[in-house]
Amino acid sequence: MRFGYFDDTKREYVITSPRTPLPWINYLGSEDFFTLCSNTAGGYSFYRDARLRRLTRYRYNNSPLDQEGFRFYIREDDIVWNPGWQPVQTELESYSCRHGLGYTVIEGSRGGVKASQEMLVPNKANCLLVRLSISNESGFAKKLSVFPYIEFCLWDAVDDSSNFQRNWSIGEVEIKGSAIYHKTEYRERRDHYAVFWADREPDAFDTSRDAFIGVYGSPARPEAVFGSGCTGSVAHGWQPIAAQQFDLELAAGESTSIVFGLGYIENSEDEKWEAPGVINKKKAEDLIAAYSCAGAFDRAMEELKASWADLLSHYIVGSGSEKLDRMVNIWNQYQCMVTFNMSRSASYFESGMGRGMGFRDSCQDLLGFVHMIPERARERILDIAATQFPDGSAYHQYQPLTKKGNLAVGSGFNDDPLWLIAGTDAYIRETGDWSILDENVPFDNDPSLAQPLSEHLRRSFRYTTEHLGPHGLPLIGRADWNDCLNLNCFSKHPGESFQITGPSEGPVAESVFIGGMYVKYGRAWADILKHTGLAAEAEAAESSISAVEAAVLDAGWDGEWFRRAYDAYGNVVGGSECEEGKIFIEPQGMCVMARVGAETGEAAKALESVKKMLDTKYGIVLLQPAYTKYHLELGEISSYPPGYKENAGIFCHNNPWIVCAETELGHGDRAFEVYARTAPAYIEDISEIHRTEPYVYSQMIAGSDAATFGEGKNSWLTGTAAWTFLSISQAILGVKPTLDGLMIDPCIPADVKGFTVTRKFRGAVYDITVENPDGVQKGIREVIVDGRRIEGNVLPVLESGSCTKVAVVMG
Ligand code: BGC
Repeated sequence: MRFGYFDDTKREYVITSPRTPLPWINYLGSEDFFTLCSNTAGGYSFYRDARLRRLTRYRYNNSPLDQEGFRFYIREDDIVWNPGWQPVQTELESYSCRHGLGYTVIEGSRGGVKASQEMLVPNKANCLLVRLSISNESGFAKKLSVFPYIEFCLWDAVDDSSNFQRNWSIGEVEIKGSAIYHKTEYRERRDHYAVFWADREPDAFDTSRDAFIGVYGSPARPEAVFGSGCTGSVAHGWQPIAAQQFDLELAAGESTSIVFGLGYIENSEDEKWEAPGVINKKKAEDLIAAYSCAGAFDRAMEELKASWADLLSHYIVGSGSEKLDRMVNIWNQYQCMVTFNMSRSASYFESGMGRGMGFRDSCQDLLGFVHMIPERARERILDIAATQFPDGSAYHQYQPLTKKGNLAVGSGFNDDPLWLIAGTDAYIRETGDWSILDENVPFDNDPSLAQPLSEHLRRSFRYTTEHLGPHGLPLIGRADWNDCLNLNCFSKHPGESFQITGPSEGPVAESVFIGGMYVKYGRAWADILKHTGLAAEAEAAESSISAVEAAVLDAGWDGEWFRRAYDAYGNVVGGSECEEGKIFIEPQGMCVMARVGAETGEAAKALESVKKMLDTKYGIVLLQPAYTKYHLELGEISSYPPGYKENAGIFCHNNPWIVCAETELGHGDRAFEVYARTAPAYIEDISEIHRTEPYVYSQMIAGSDAATFGEGKNSWLTGTAAWTFLSISQAILGVKPTLDGLMIDPCIPADVKGFTVTRKFRGAVYDITVENPDGVQKGIREVIVDGRRIEGNVLPVLESGSCTKVAVVMG
C-alpha cells in the first residue's frame, strides 16, 4: 500500500494522506541552520548542534506522536483546523505534503478555504522561512483567524528536558513589532538569541505557553485558539513560546500570504545590548528586512532549487528504469547530503542529544557525498582527523559545535582508524587533490601536536599493524563496525553502557572484519604511498597486509564462509561450531570487497553462504541463527530480541557491501537483486509494512525472526545512504574514480542492454554511454573517448570545463 507517489520532474515525494504509518520527515537546511519537518509540519529547529543549540522543543516519545512543530491553526467560527491536519486532526477536504530537496510544502483545505504552508531554510542563512498562503475559494466572503505557534527550547536540549528546578525560572522574551525574541540565558553567558517574526503586524500575540495552550490544554486544543484569542502574555520563566493571531477578511476568490521566520542570531560580547536589559536587535532586524521584501521567499526557493540541481548534476544515470533513476539521481544522493550534515545526531529516531558526529560514521558518509561537495568533504576530513590520538586510535565521536572529541565515549573502537584512510582515499580519488595530505592537523585537538594528514593516515595503518591478536588478526577493542559486538566489555548491570564498560583493549578478542578492512584500506594506503614516491614504505605495508590476509584465510575461514571474530576466551564467533550466530554478514562483505579469497574460491563460497543462510525477501539479515539469550561475552548484540537491530535484523548498511562484493566476482544479476531488495523506491508498495519513509533508507528492517518482519526503523541517518550510492554508482553502474582517472567497469544484470551516465569529475563532464550487446554481466570490449579508442578502461583526466563523449561496449 502507498501513501503517496514520487514526482520525479519536481524531485518531490508527494504524500497524499496525513495518516502515514509514522511521521514522514524531511530536512530543511544544509549548512548551519536546520529544521526537521514532518508531513504534518511537526519537527524542530536547531543551529549546528541539535543538543547544544536547540531552538524549538520536540518530545520524542510523546503520545499522541509528533505534537510539536511549526503549527498554524486556522479558525472559522467554531471550527479549527491545521493545513497539515495535526495537531487538531480536524478532517480536511484535501491534503498533500510535498517533500522536496530542502523544502516542504503542505497544503490542506476545508470549507472552501485552501491553505498552503511552504517551508525552507534559505541557502547560507541562519533561519527558517515559512510562507502561509490562504485562498478563499468558497464563493463567499470569509472571516478567519490564523494562529502560528512554536514552542522554544531553552537551548541545551538535555538540560531542557531534565533540569526543571532551574529552567522553569529562567525563560525570557522580548516583543517588538511583529517579532518575538527568545533570550533565555542571554543575560549571562549566551551570546545568541532566537527570533520569530512575521512580515506584517499581528492582531495579537502570546509568548507564554500557559496563556496560549493553557496549563491543562494541549497543542490539539489551545485555549487561546478555541477560546477568545491571544492575550498578549509575556513569558517570565516556565515555557516561552511564540504565537500570534491574524484576523483576516477574505472576499470570495481572494488570497493572502504571510511570510514567517525563525532565526538564530549571535552577537559579540561588546555588542550584546542596545540598552540595559534590552538585546541588540540590529542583526535580527536586518535578517527580517531581507526576507520581508517582495519576492524574497520565491527567490530563496529558486536559489535552493538551483543549488540542488547543481549538486545533483555530478552524477546522472539514464537507465530506462524509473525507480533506479529516481533513487540514483535524486533520493539516494539527497540522503547522502543529509547524513553528511547530521551524521547520526538528529532524526525522528536519534534525539540529537545522544550522539555527536561519529568518527567511523562521518568517514563513511564521505563516500556518498564527496563527488557533490568536495570542499566540504576536505574540511570534514581535517575535522575528523583532529580527533585522532597520537597513537592512531581515535575518539569515537565528536560534538559538531565544538569539533572536540567526546570524552564520555572515548576511544577503543578498533575499526575507527582505518575509516580515516577510506574517507581520505575517496577524497583524493575524486578530486586528485594530493595537497590534503600535507595539511597540518592536530592530534587530540591539540595544535601543538599537529602533523601532516599523511602522518595521521600512517598512524591509522600502524595502529592496526601493531594491534594484532593471537591468530594474527586485528584486535577488536570495544567493538568494530558492529558497535554491538562487545567482546571485551562484559556488561552485567542494567543501564551501564555495553560499549564502554570493561577495558577498551583486550589482548585476545580479534575481528575478522577488521582483518578484511585492513586488507582493503591498507592497500588503498599502500597505493597512496606509491603515488607519493614512498615505494619502500608501500612495500613494507603490503607485506603486513599479506600477513593479515593469510590470517583471514586461515584462522578467519570456517570452510564455507568467513568467521566473524574470536572472543576474549579465544572462542570462535560466527562459525559452524556456534549454536547461534553461526554466520555474520559483515566479514563476507568486507573480505570479498577486499578480494580476500577472490582467486582461490573462498570469496565465491562466502557469498553463496550468504545467499543460502542470510537471504530474506526484504533483504539480507546480519546473522543467523539469531541469539535467543544474552551472552555476557558478546555484549549488546545479544541484548536485542531476535530479528531486531544487530541481532539478525536486516541491517541495511551492510547489504550494499554484499552488492559490492558480488560485483568483485562479476555477479551482476545477484548484485542488482540485492540492491533492489532494500532500495526505498522498490519497496514503496509495501509502505504499510515498511512504515518508514519510502524515499530514504532506514538503518534497519526487522528480520525474519522478528514478529514485525519487514518493518523499517531509524530512517534517514544511516551509513546505508553512502554505501548504497557507492554500490550502485560505482560497483554496479561501474563509474569509479581512481587515483589516475575515472574507471568504467560496470557489473550489471545480463538483461540490461545499456545505460548512460553523465559524470562531472575533476571539473570535466563525461557523457558516458554503455552498451551491452552480448548480455554479459561484466567485462569491457572497448572504450572510445571522443571518437578514439583508448587502451584499458581508465578515462584520461580532462581539462576542467571540457565535455567529452565516452562510448563503452561491454563484452
Ligand atoms: C552506528 C554505526 C555502527 C552501526 C552498527 C550504527 O548505529 O552509528 O557506527 O557501525 O550502528 O553497529
